[in-house]
Amino acid sequence: MTANREQFGSRLGFILAAAGSAVGIGNLVGFPVNAAKNGGAAFLLLYALFVFLICLPVMMAELAAGRNSRKNPLGAYQHFAPDNKLWHIGGWLSLVTPYMIAVFYAVITLWVLGYLVAILNGELEALTTTEYFGNFINSPSIFIYLALIAVMVGVILHFGVKEGIERGAKIMMPSLFIMLLGLVVFVLTRDNAMAGVQYYLIPDVSKIDAKVINGAMGQAFFSLSLGMGILITYGSYVDRQASIANSAKMVALADTGVAFTAGLLVLPAIFSFNPNVNTAELSDSSVSLIFTFLPKIFLAMQASVGYWGASIVAAIFFLLVFFAALTSLVSIIEVPVSGVMDQKGVTRHQALLMVGSTMVVVALACAVSFGMVDFFTSFIHYGGASKSFFDLVIDVFYDTILPLNGFLICMLVVYRWKKAQLNKELEQGDPEYKGSLAERYINFSLGTFIPVILLFVFINTVLNKFFSMSLI
Ligand code: PFF
Repeated sequence: MTANREQFGSRLGFILAAAGSAVGIGNLVGFPVNAAKNGGAAFLLLYALFVFLICLPVMMAELAAGRNSRKNPLGAYQHFAPDNKLWHIGGWLSLVTPYMIAVFYAVITLWVLGYLVAILNGELEALTTTEYFGNFINSPSIFIYLALIAVMVGVILHFGVKEGIERGAKIMMPSLFIMLLGLVVFVLTRDNAMAGVQYYLIPDVSKIDAKVINGAMGQAFFSLSLGMGILITYGSYVDRQASIANSAKMVALADTGVAFTAGLLVLPAIFSFNPNVNTAELSDSSVSLIFTFLPKIFLAMQASVGYWGASIVAAIFFLLVFFAALTSLVSIIEVPVSGVMDQKGVTRHQALLMVGSTMVVVALACAVSFGMVDFFTSFIHYGGASKSFFDLVIDVFYDTILPLNGFLICMLVVYRWKKAQLNKELEQGDPEYKGSLAERYINFSLGTFIPVILLFVFINTVLNKFFSMSLI
Protein backbone atom coordinates (compact mmCIF):
# COMPACT_ATOMS: atom_id res chain seq x y z
CA MET A 1 0.00 0.00 0.00
CA THR A 2 2.76 2.41 1.04
CA ALA A 3 4.83 1.94 -2.10
CA ASN A 4 2.10 3.02 -4.47
CA ARG A 5 0.34 5.54 -2.28
CA GLU A 6 -1.17 8.38 -4.29
CA GLN A 7 0.69 11.69 -4.28
CA PHE A 8 0.07 15.30 -5.10
CA GLY A 9 1.48 16.13 -8.53
CA SER A 10 3.25 19.35 -7.58
CA ARG A 11 4.16 21.52 -4.62
CA LEU A 12 1.76 24.22 -5.78
CA GLY A 13 -0.99 21.62 -6.10
CA PHE A 14 -0.43 20.51 -2.52
CA ILE A 15 -0.35 24.08 -1.20
CA LEU A 16 -3.58 24.94 -3.02
CA ALA A 17 -5.27 21.77 -1.75
CA ALA A 18 -4.19 22.46 1.84
CA ALA A 19 -5.17 26.12 1.50
CA GLY A 20 -8.48 24.93 0.05
CA SER A 21 -9.01 22.96 3.21
CA ALA A 22 -8.00 25.83 5.46
CA VAL A 23 -9.96 28.56 3.70
CA GLY A 24 -13.57 27.97 4.58
CA ILE A 25 -16.64 29.50 6.14
CA GLY A 26 -14.49 30.16 9.22
CA ASN A 27 -12.35 32.62 7.26
CA LEU A 28 -14.97 34.27 5.13
CA VAL A 29 -17.57 34.86 7.79
CA GLY A 30 -16.41 33.68 11.22
CA PHE A 31 -13.26 35.76 11.24
CA PRO A 32 -14.79 39.11 10.14
CA VAL A 33 -17.58 38.84 12.73
CA ASN A 34 -15.16 37.99 15.50
CA ALA A 35 -12.82 40.79 14.52
CA ALA A 36 -15.71 43.25 14.33
CA LYS A 37 -16.96 42.41 17.77
CA ASN A 38 -13.65 41.96 19.52
CA GLY A 39 -11.46 44.97 18.94
CA GLY A 40 -10.76 44.96 15.17
CA ALA A 41 -7.02 45.02 14.51
CA ALA A 42 -6.32 44.03 18.12
CA PHE A 43 -8.14 40.75 17.45
CA LEU A 44 -6.40 40.43 14.10
CA LEU A 45 -2.99 40.74 15.74
CA LEU A 46 -3.87 38.20 18.40
CA TYR A 47 -5.17 35.84 15.75
CA ALA A 48 -2.04 36.19 13.61
CA LEU A 49 0.16 35.53 16.67
CA PHE A 50 -1.77 32.35 17.43
CA VAL A 51 -1.61 31.22 13.81
CA PHE A 52 2.14 31.58 13.56
CA LEU A 53 3.31 30.80 17.09
CA ILE A 54 0.92 28.03 18.11
CA CYS A 55 -0.92 26.64 15.10
CA LEU A 56 1.92 26.53 12.58
CA PRO A 57 4.04 24.14 14.70
CA VAL A 58 1.01 21.84 15.13
CA MET A 59 0.39 22.00 11.40
CA MET A 60 3.99 21.01 10.67
CA ALA A 61 3.81 18.18 13.21
CA GLU A 62 0.65 16.81 11.55
CA LEU A 63 2.13 17.04 8.06
CA ALA A 64 5.40 15.43 9.14
CA ALA A 65 3.61 12.60 10.96
CA GLY A 66 1.54 11.96 7.82
CA ARG A 67 4.48 12.05 5.44
CA ASN A 68 6.62 9.82 7.61
CA SER A 69 3.96 7.18 8.27
CA ARG A 70 2.37 7.43 4.81
CA LYS A 71 -0.90 6.64 6.56
CA ASN A 72 -4.31 8.01 7.50
CA PRO A 73 -4.51 9.36 11.09
CA LEU A 74 -5.43 6.02 12.72
CA GLY A 75 -2.67 4.31 10.73
CA ALA A 76 -0.26 7.03 11.81
CA TYR A 77 -1.03 6.53 15.52
CA GLN A 78 -0.64 2.76 15.04
CA HIS A 79 2.62 3.31 13.16
CA PHE A 80 4.18 5.43 15.88
CA ALA A 81 2.77 3.47 18.82
CA PRO A 82 2.29 -0.08 17.55
CA ASP A 83 2.37 -1.73 20.98
CA ASN A 84 0.19 0.62 23.01
CA LYS A 85 -3.52 0.51 22.31
CA LEU A 86 -4.20 3.60 24.44
CA TRP A 87 -2.59 5.77 21.79
CA HIS A 88 -4.91 4.32 19.19
CA ILE A 89 -7.80 6.14 20.86
CA GLY A 90 -6.20 9.32 19.49
CA GLY A 91 -6.16 7.71 16.05
CA TRP A 92 -9.83 6.77 16.25
CA LEU A 93 -10.73 10.26 17.42
CA SER A 94 -8.86 11.67 14.43
CA LEU A 95 -11.09 9.62 12.12
CA VAL A 96 -14.42 10.09 13.88
CA THR A 97 -13.94 13.86 14.37
CA PRO A 98 -13.59 14.72 10.66
CA TYR A 99 -16.48 12.39 9.88
CA MET A 100 -18.80 14.22 12.26
CA ILE A 101 -17.53 17.72 11.43
CA ALA A 102 -18.06 16.95 7.75
CA VAL A 103 -21.65 16.08 8.52
CA PHE A 104 -22.59 19.44 10.05
CA TYR A 105 -20.45 21.35 7.58
CA ALA A 106 -22.27 19.60 4.72
CA VAL A 107 -25.56 20.90 6.08
CA ILE A 108 -24.31 24.52 6.14
CA THR A 109 -22.83 24.04 2.66
CA LEU A 110 -26.16 22.84 1.31
CA TRP A 111 -27.85 25.96 2.69
CA VAL A 112 -25.22 28.11 0.93
CA LEU A 113 -25.95 26.29 -2.33
CA GLY A 114 -29.69 26.76 -1.81
CA TYR A 115 -29.25 30.50 -1.27
CA LEU A 116 -27.02 30.77 -4.34
CA VAL A 117 -29.69 29.12 -6.48
CA ALA A 118 -32.42 31.33 -4.97
CA ILE A 119 -30.44 34.49 -5.75
CA LEU A 120 -29.84 33.36 -9.33
CA ASN A 121 -33.60 32.82 -9.48
CA GLY A 122 -34.19 36.47 -8.67
CA GLU A 123 -35.25 35.86 -5.07
CA LEU A 124 -32.76 38.13 -3.25
CA GLU A 125 -35.58 40.25 -1.84
CA ALA A 126 -37.39 37.21 -0.47
CA LEU A 127 -34.18 36.07 1.29
CA THR A 128 -34.24 39.18 3.44
CA THR A 129 -37.56 38.37 5.08
CA THR A 130 -37.43 36.98 8.61
CA GLU A 131 -39.24 33.78 7.83
CA TYR A 132 -37.26 32.78 4.71
CA PHE A 133 -34.35 31.04 6.46
CA GLY A 134 -36.56 29.02 8.81
CA ASN A 135 -38.81 27.96 5.96
CA PHE A 136 -35.93 27.10 3.67
CA ILE A 137 -34.05 24.87 6.12
CA ASN A 138 -37.26 22.97 6.76
CA SER A 139 -38.29 22.60 3.13
CA PRO A 140 -37.98 19.42 1.06
CA SER A 141 -35.55 21.18 -1.30
CA ILE A 142 -32.75 20.66 1.25
CA PHE A 143 -32.71 16.97 0.29
CA ILE A 144 -31.99 17.86 -3.32
CA TYR A 145 -29.17 20.21 -2.33
CA LEU A 146 -27.69 17.60 0.00
CA ALA A 147 -27.77 15.07 -2.83
CA LEU A 148 -26.09 17.57 -5.18
CA ILE A 149 -23.31 18.20 -2.69
CA ALA A 150 -22.82 14.49 -2.08
CA VAL A 151 -22.46 14.00 -5.85
CA MET A 152 -20.02 16.91 -6.26
CA VAL A 153 -17.77 15.82 -3.38
CA GLY A 154 -18.10 12.18 -4.47
CA VAL A 155 -17.00 12.95 -8.04
CA ILE A 156 -13.96 14.97 -6.89
CA LEU A 157 -12.87 12.30 -4.42
CA HIS A 158 -13.53 9.52 -6.91
CA PHE A 159 -10.79 10.93 -9.15
CA GLY A 160 -8.28 10.65 -6.32
CA VAL A 161 -5.58 12.90 -4.92
CA LYS A 162 -4.00 14.31 -8.07
CA GLU A 163 -6.84 14.23 -10.59
CA GLY A 164 -9.60 15.00 -8.08
CA ILE A 165 -8.54 16.94 -4.97
CA GLU A 166 -5.60 18.75 -6.55
CA ARG A 167 -7.38 19.52 -9.82
CA GLY A 168 -10.47 20.78 -7.97
CA ALA A 169 -8.33 23.06 -5.80
CA LYS A 170 -6.44 24.36 -8.82
CA ILE A 171 -9.72 25.48 -10.34
CA MET A 172 -11.64 26.61 -7.29
CA MET A 173 -8.92 28.36 -5.27
CA PRO A 174 -7.75 30.85 -7.93
CA SER A 175 -11.42 31.55 -8.79
CA LEU A 176 -12.07 32.14 -5.10
CA PHE A 177 -9.16 34.60 -4.82
CA ILE A 178 -10.33 36.51 -7.90
CA MET A 179 -13.94 36.73 -6.71
CA LEU A 180 -12.84 37.86 -3.27
CA LEU A 181 -10.58 40.59 -4.63
CA GLY A 182 -13.24 41.72 -7.13
CA LEU A 183 -15.82 42.04 -4.35
CA VAL A 184 -13.39 43.91 -2.09
CA VAL A 185 -12.64 46.45 -4.83
CA PHE A 186 -16.37 46.88 -5.47
CA VAL A 187 -17.21 47.37 -1.80
CA LEU A 188 -14.28 49.66 -1.01
CA THR A 189 -15.33 52.04 -3.78
CA ARG A 190 -18.81 52.58 -2.22
CA ASP A 191 -19.67 55.61 -0.06
CA ASN A 192 -19.01 55.17 3.66
CA ALA A 193 -16.89 52.08 3.08
CA MET A 194 -14.00 53.76 4.84
CA ALA A 195 -15.99 53.86 8.08
CA GLY A 196 -15.95 50.06 8.00
CA VAL A 197 -12.24 49.95 7.18
CA GLN A 198 -11.54 52.28 10.09
CA TYR A 199 -13.69 50.26 12.41
CA TYR A 200 -11.86 47.12 11.31
CA LEU A 201 -8.31 48.39 11.36
CA ILE A 202 -8.17 50.67 14.39
CA PRO A 203 -7.27 48.41 17.29
CA ASP A 204 -9.45 48.57 20.38
CA VAL A 205 -7.42 46.79 23.03
CA SER A 206 -10.06 47.37 25.70
CA LYS A 207 -12.17 44.60 24.11
CA ILE A 208 -9.48 41.98 24.66
CA ASP A 209 -10.20 39.78 27.66
CA ALA A 210 -9.66 36.11 28.49
CA LYS A 211 -12.76 35.08 26.54
CA VAL A 212 -11.64 36.92 23.42
CA ILE A 213 -8.18 35.37 23.68
CA ASN A 214 -9.76 31.93 23.97
CA GLY A 215 -12.00 32.71 20.97
CA ALA A 216 -9.06 33.87 18.84
CA MET A 217 -7.20 30.67 19.67
CA GLY A 218 -10.18 28.49 18.74
CA GLN A 219 -10.76 30.44 15.55
CA ALA A 220 -7.10 30.08 14.48
CA PHE A 221 -7.03 26.37 15.27
CA PHE A 222 -10.25 25.64 13.38
CA SER A 223 -9.30 27.88 10.50
CA LEU A 224 -6.08 26.01 9.79
CA SER A 225 -8.02 22.71 9.78
CA LEU A 226 -6.00 21.35 12.70
CA GLY A 227 -7.02 18.41 14.85
CA MET A 228 -9.20 17.02 12.06
CA GLY A 229 -6.70 14.52 10.65
CA ILE A 230 -6.72 16.43 7.37
CA LEU A 231 -3.09 17.49 7.48
CA ILE A 232 -1.89 14.05 8.54
CA THR A 233 -3.74 12.64 5.54
CA TYR A 234 -2.57 15.32 3.11
CA GLY A 235 0.97 14.96 4.51
CA SER A 236 0.88 11.29 3.57
CA TYR A 237 0.47 12.37 -0.08
CA VAL A 238 3.44 14.77 -0.09
CA ASP A 239 6.76 13.71 -1.57
CA ARG A 240 10.01 13.78 0.38
CA GLN A 241 11.56 16.47 -1.83
CA ALA A 242 9.09 19.11 -0.62
CA SER A 243 9.85 21.40 2.31
CA ILE A 244 7.07 20.96 4.85
CA ALA A 245 8.05 24.12 6.73
CA ASN A 246 7.83 26.34 3.64
CA SER A 247 4.61 24.78 2.40
CA ALA A 248 2.99 25.08 5.82
CA LYS A 249 4.02 28.74 6.01
CA MET A 250 2.43 29.39 2.62
CA VAL A 251 -0.81 27.74 3.71
CA ALA A 252 -0.90 29.72 6.97
CA LEU A 253 -0.23 32.94 5.08
CA ALA A 254 -2.92 32.20 2.49
CA ASP A 255 -5.41 31.35 5.21
CA THR A 256 -4.68 34.45 7.27
CA GLY A 257 -4.61 36.59 4.11
CA VAL A 258 -8.07 35.39 3.08
CA ALA A 259 -9.46 35.95 6.59
CA PHE A 260 -8.03 39.46 6.65
CA THR A 261 -9.33 40.25 3.16
CA ALA A 262 -12.76 38.87 4.01
CA GLY A 263 -12.84 41.43 6.83
CA LEU A 264 -12.12 44.14 4.29
CA LEU A 265 -15.16 42.95 2.39
CA VAL A 266 -17.73 42.23 5.06
CA LEU A 267 -17.24 45.17 7.44
CA PRO A 268 -17.08 47.96 4.84
CA ALA A 269 -20.11 46.37 3.12
CA ILE A 270 -22.05 46.53 6.37
CA PHE A 271 -21.05 50.12 7.10
CA SER A 272 -21.58 51.29 3.58
CA PHE A 273 -25.06 49.91 3.10
CA ASN A 274 -26.27 50.11 6.65
CA PRO A 275 -24.35 53.09 8.11
CA ASN A 276 -26.25 53.05 11.41
CA VAL A 277 -25.19 49.53 12.23
CA ASN A 278 -24.55 48.73 15.83
CA THR A 279 -21.88 46.05 15.80
CA ALA A 280 -23.16 44.62 19.06
CA GLU A 281 -26.12 43.44 16.96
CA LEU A 282 -23.87 41.17 14.93
CA SER A 283 -24.49 37.72 16.26
CA ASP A 284 -21.52 35.52 17.15
CA SER A 285 -22.70 32.93 14.75
CA SER A 286 -21.49 32.79 11.17
CA VAL A 287 -24.73 31.10 10.27
CA SER A 288 -27.00 33.96 11.19
CA LEU A 289 -24.66 36.42 9.52
CA ILE A 290 -24.57 34.58 6.20
CA PHE A 291 -28.21 33.68 5.98
CA THR A 292 -30.09 36.46 7.68
CA PHE A 293 -27.91 39.54 7.93
CA LEU A 294 -25.84 39.66 4.74
CA PRO A 295 -28.76 39.23 2.29
CA LYS A 296 -30.14 42.51 3.70
CA ILE A 297 -26.82 44.22 3.04
CA PHE A 298 -26.76 42.90 -0.52
CA LEU A 299 -30.34 44.04 -1.12
CA ALA A 300 -29.47 47.52 0.11
CA MET A 301 -26.96 47.73 -2.74
CA GLN A 302 -29.84 47.99 -5.20
CA ALA A 303 -29.96 51.73 -4.51
CA SER A 304 -26.63 52.11 -6.27
CA VAL A 305 -26.44 49.18 -8.71
CA GLY A 306 -30.07 48.13 -9.22
CA TYR A 307 -31.79 44.89 -8.20
CA TRP A 308 -29.94 42.67 -10.64
CA GLY A 309 -26.62 44.37 -9.90
CA ALA A 310 -27.16 43.65 -6.20
CA SER A 311 -28.20 40.08 -7.02
CA ILE A 312 -25.01 39.54 -9.04
CA VAL A 313 -22.83 40.79 -6.17
CA ALA A 314 -24.74 38.55 -3.73
CA ALA A 315 -24.44 35.56 -6.09
CA ILE A 316 -20.68 36.05 -6.40
CA PHE A 317 -20.40 36.19 -2.63
CA PHE A 318 -22.40 32.98 -2.16
CA LEU A 319 -20.42 31.25 -4.92
CA LEU A 320 -17.23 32.29 -3.14
CA VAL A 321 -18.45 30.86 0.15
CA PHE A 322 -19.65 27.74 -1.66
CA PHE A 323 -16.23 27.09 -3.26
CA ALA A 324 -14.51 27.68 0.07
CA ALA A 325 -16.88 25.25 1.80
CA LEU A 326 -16.64 22.63 -0.95
CA THR A 327 -12.82 22.46 -0.92
CA SER A 328 -12.92 22.17 2.89
CA LEU A 329 -15.54 19.44 2.69
CA VAL A 330 -13.49 17.51 0.13
CA SER A 331 -10.44 17.62 2.41
CA ILE A 332 -12.29 16.48 5.48
CA ILE A 333 -14.15 13.62 3.81
CA GLU A 334 -10.87 12.38 2.33
CA VAL A 335 -9.76 11.57 5.91
CA PRO A 336 -12.25 8.74 6.61
CA VAL A 337 -12.04 7.67 2.97
CA SER A 338 -8.27 7.20 3.22
CA GLY A 339 -8.79 5.62 6.66
CA VAL A 340 -11.11 2.96 5.25
CA MET A 341 -8.83 2.41 2.23
CA ASP A 342 -5.73 1.88 4.38
CA GLN A 343 -7.26 -0.03 7.24
CA LYS A 344 -9.60 -2.26 5.27
CA GLY A 345 -7.45 -2.59 2.16
CA VAL A 346 -10.36 -1.69 -0.13
CA THR A 347 -10.30 0.45 -3.28
CA ARG A 348 -10.97 4.19 -3.27
CA HIS A 349 -14.29 3.55 -4.96
CA GLN A 350 -15.46 1.08 -2.28
CA ALA A 351 -14.23 3.29 0.56
CA LEU A 352 -16.02 6.27 -0.93
CA LEU A 353 -19.27 4.34 -1.17
CA MET A 354 -19.03 3.12 2.43
CA VAL A 355 -18.12 6.51 3.88
CA GLY A 356 -20.39 8.54 1.59
CA SER A 357 -23.55 6.51 2.07
CA THR A 358 -23.36 6.41 5.87
CA MET A 359 -22.40 10.06 6.00
CA VAL A 360 -25.46 11.08 4.00
CA VAL A 361 -27.64 9.31 6.57
CA VAL A 362 -26.03 11.15 9.51
CA ALA A 363 -26.13 14.43 7.58
CA LEU A 364 -29.86 13.88 7.05
CA ALA A 365 -30.30 13.53 10.82
CA CYS A 366 -28.51 16.89 11.22
CA ALA A 367 -30.45 18.53 8.41
CA VAL A 368 -33.85 17.65 9.86
CA SER A 369 -32.99 18.79 13.38
CA PHE A 370 -34.38 22.31 12.92
CA GLY A 371 -38.00 21.41 13.45
CA MET A 372 -38.68 18.93 10.66
CA VAL A 373 -38.26 15.87 12.90
CA ASP A 374 -38.96 16.34 16.62
CA PHE A 375 -36.72 13.49 17.71
CA PHE A 376 -33.62 15.18 16.23
CA THR A 377 -34.77 18.71 17.09
CA SER A 378 -35.03 18.09 20.84
CA PHE A 379 -32.42 15.38 20.83
CA ILE A 380 -30.76 15.79 24.22
CA HIS A 381 -30.59 18.04 27.26
CA TYR A 382 -27.32 19.28 28.79
CA GLY A 383 -25.64 22.44 30.03
CA GLY A 384 -29.07 23.70 31.08
CA ALA A 385 -30.64 23.62 27.61
CA SER A 386 -32.35 21.36 25.14
CA LYS A 387 -30.12 20.64 22.16
CA SER A 388 -30.74 19.38 18.67
CA PHE A 389 -28.67 16.66 17.04
CA PHE A 390 -26.93 19.38 14.98
CA ASP A 391 -26.04 21.33 18.18
CA LEU A 392 -24.71 18.17 19.79
CA VAL A 393 -22.40 17.44 16.87
CA ILE A 394 -21.03 20.99 16.92
CA ASP A 395 -20.59 21.09 20.70
CA VAL A 396 -18.89 17.72 20.94
CA PHE A 397 -16.75 17.50 17.84
CA TYR A 398 -16.07 21.03 16.71
CA ASP A 399 -15.89 22.82 20.05
CA THR A 400 -14.62 20.12 22.38
CA ILE A 401 -12.72 17.34 20.64
CA LEU A 402 -10.69 19.49 18.23
CA PRO A 403 -8.34 20.93 20.87
CA LEU A 404 -8.08 17.47 22.47
CA ASN A 405 -6.97 16.04 19.13
CA GLY A 406 -4.41 18.84 18.86
CA PHE A 407 -3.09 18.01 22.31
CA LEU A 408 -2.86 14.30 21.50
CA ILE A 409 -0.99 14.82 18.24
CA CYS A 410 1.60 17.01 20.04
CA MET A 411 2.05 14.28 22.64
CA LEU A 412 2.33 11.54 20.04
CA VAL A 413 4.89 13.40 17.96
CA VAL A 414 7.04 14.71 20.78
CA TYR A 415 6.92 11.94 23.36
CA ARG A 416 6.32 8.85 21.29
CA TRP A 417 7.77 9.48 17.86
CA LYS A 418 10.36 11.80 19.47
CA LYS A 419 11.69 15.19 18.47
CA ALA A 420 14.80 13.80 16.76
CA GLN A 421 12.62 11.86 14.31
CA LEU A 422 10.34 14.83 13.75
CA ASN A 423 13.38 16.99 12.99
CA LYS A 424 14.74 14.41 10.56
CA GLU A 425 11.43 14.35 8.71
CA LEU A 426 11.21 18.13 8.55
CA GLU A 427 14.81 18.37 7.31
CA GLN A 428 13.91 16.13 4.35
CA GLY A 429 13.59 18.38 1.32
CA ASP A 430 14.68 21.33 3.44
CA PRO A 431 18.38 21.21 4.41
CA GLU A 432 18.22 24.78 5.76
CA TYR A 433 15.76 23.72 8.43
CA LYS A 434 18.47 21.81 10.31
CA GLY A 435 19.71 23.88 13.25
CA SER A 436 17.48 26.82 12.34
CA LEU A 437 15.71 29.02 14.84
CA ALA A 438 12.42 27.60 13.56
CA GLU A 439 13.57 24.08 14.40
CA ARG A 440 14.54 25.06 17.91
CA TYR A 441 11.30 26.97 18.44
CA ILE A 442 9.19 24.07 17.19
CA ASN A 443 11.00 21.54 19.34
CA PHE A 444 10.53 23.66 22.41
CA SER A 445 6.96 24.82 21.85
CA LEU A 446 5.52 21.46 20.81
CA GLY A 447 6.90 19.81 23.90
CA THR A 448 5.85 22.51 26.36
CA PHE A 449 3.36 25.34 26.16
CA ILE A 450 1.40 24.36 23.01
CA PRO A 451 0.00 21.10 24.46
CA VAL A 452 -0.62 22.87 27.78
CA ILE A 453 -2.68 25.57 26.04
CA LEU A 454 -4.63 23.01 24.01
CA LEU A 455 -5.37 20.93 27.09
CA PHE A 456 -6.51 24.04 28.93
CA VAL A 457 -8.84 25.00 26.07
CA PHE A 458 -10.23 21.45 26.05
CA ILE A 459 -10.90 21.34 29.79
CA ASN A 460 -12.39 24.82 29.79
CA THR A 461 -14.71 23.93 26.90
CA VAL A 462 -15.90 20.75 28.61
CA LEU A 463 -16.68 22.70 31.79
CA ASN A 464 -18.33 25.44 29.82
CA LYS A 465 -20.47 23.42 27.44
CA PHE A 466 -21.52 20.59 29.64
CA PHE A 467 -21.36 21.91 33.20
CA SER A 468 -21.98 25.66 32.73
CA MET A 469 -18.68 26.44 34.48
CA SER A 470 -15.52 28.15 33.33
CA LEU A 471 -11.84 28.35 34.23
CA ILE A 472 -11.59 31.86 32.85
N1 PFF B 1 -10.62 25.75 7.82
C1 PFF B 1 -11.99 25.43 7.65
C2 PFF B 1 -12.84 26.69 7.84
O1 PFF B 1 -12.27 27.69 8.24
O2 PFF B 1 -14.03 26.68 7.57
C3 PFF B 1 -12.22 24.40 8.67
C4 PFF B 1 -12.89 23.21 8.12
C5 PFF B 1 -14.17 23.00 8.46
C6 PFF B 1 -12.26 22.35 7.26
C7 PFF B 1 -14.86 21.98 7.96
C8 PFF B 1 -12.96 21.31 6.75
C9 PFF B 1 -14.26 21.16 7.10
F1 PFF B 1 -14.96 20.19 6.58
